[in-house]
Amino acid sequence: MSEQTTLPVDNQRKVFIKTYGCQMNVYDSERMGEALAADGYRQTEVIEDADLILLNTCHIREKAAEKVYSALGRYRDLKAERLKQGRETMIGVAGCVAQAEGEEILRRAPDVDVVIGPQTYHRLPEALRKAKTGERVVDTEYAVEDKFDYLPKKERGVRPKNVSAFLTVQEGCDKFCTFCVVPYTRGSEISRSTKQIVDEARRLAENGVREITLLGQNVNAWHGESADGADWGLGDLLFHLAEIEGIARLRYTTSHPRDMDDRLMQAHRDLPKLMPYLHLPVQAGSDRILKAMNRRHTAEEYLALIERIRAARPDIAMSGDFIVGFPGETEEDFQATLALVEKVRYVQAFSFKYSPRPGTPGAELGDQVPEAEKADRLQRLQAMLTRHQLEFAQSRIGMEMDILLEKPGRNPGQLIGRSPWLQSVVIDGGEAEIGDLVRVRITDAATNSLAGVRIA
Ligand code: 5AD
Ligand code: SF4
Repeated sequence: MSEQTTLPVDNQRKVFIKTYGCQMNVYDSERMGEALAADGYRQTEVIEDADLILLNTCHIREKAAEKVYSALGRYRDLKAERLKQGRETMIGVAGCVAQAEGEEILRRAPDVDVVIGPQTYHRLPEALRKAKTGERVVDTEYAVEDKFDYLPKKERGVRPKNVSAFLTVQEGCDKFCTFCVVPYTRGSEISRSTKQIVDEARRLAENGVREITLLGQNVNAWHGESADGADWGLGDLLFHLAEIEGIARLRYTTSHPRDMDDRLMQAHRDLPKLMPYLHLPVQAGSDRILKAMNRRHTAEEYLALIERIRAARPDIAMSGDFIVGFPGETEEDFQATLALVEKVRYVQAFSFKYSPRPGTPGAELGDQVPEAEKADRLQRLQAMLTRHQLEFAQSRIGMEMDILLEKPGRNPGQLIGRSPWLQSVVIDGGEAEIGDLVRVRITDAATNSLAGVRIA
């Protein structure tokens, strides 16, 4: 441990971490927070108090990347203000914008001290020490060492009341959808070892975590080995993790339709702990567009897959991602997306206007769809998605279900939990405590949340 940790608390350096983008970044931010804690940093929510401002960034759409630059612009004044008070402020940019833009960030944002890619964040304390000497550091190598091996092991920083935790099992992507930067920013698919994952899951359970969500850009492409050397896929891993005492619920995200194999279907059929909820992005409903996107399946194949999943687990709820206005998308193509959505009836969805990303094949295509057309399609799609989401929520009224209590509600005595389908459920807590699984009857429903009463 470094000597800084022995400083009185008030003299401890403070870090403000802001996270953009997906759950993988949320996980990475937590790990960076831990790596920095071991180096003497304490986290703060008050940016003006921070000796280090760390942005964990997202590059998936142009808007996401631009947000980072505008935030960096704002921090400039802050840095100058603190300097007047004799306090130094370091600024670090981590994550996918760091990976994609590298040196360019130093050029566009002169106040940035450190740029560190998602594969090297275990080297962050070292990079900061270097930057302290006045040298601006860019570290976006694909590290040969495994970053997970280098992160502080003992405490997963689980706050005592943190009942639900993320666990990254896989990173990167080899699918090369033509709109997507992930294969370039996060690199090719790698799986963490079974042992690392199981050890981490056990530690989480020992720390009071009741629900684990396995994460990966392509989580169902995970593969590994059992203790006796057999080939394992995500289905096998889920069966194994379900045996850990204390873990009541398992989830995973994000999946690719091409990687939904039989064993994973069996897990949905046979594991009550695996929640009946699946995020399975399709992006579009027209075969022509799916082909242009290099999704490597048709709409028909996707729908047939969902039928098989529903045969295995009839109460499963589907969630999805959609892109409207991919180059060449006509009104007819878009209608095919609406038709697919009408068939699947997603309970939750993320939908976006296509955003051309430099370096991806999609950005090179002619026939880009005008912005106004994209906006109009997005609005129509979202109206349908929201309607389905609300109808699903309303269909829960009168139903009895287990909810996992996660946090206090707004009013005294209230607690908020999650339904098996990821909806927030507000109840009157009574004797129940955060971390309990309680039986509830649903009494009321809105698009994003339910209300219920406890039953014996
Ligand atoms: N434009 C718009 N949306 C995109 N996504 C990924 N790349 C792009 C892009 N260039 C969306 C996809 C993906 C989700 C994480 O972000 O729907 O599933
Ligand atoms: Fe991107 Fe496609 Fe890989 Fe998902 S599967 S991360 S959309 S390239």
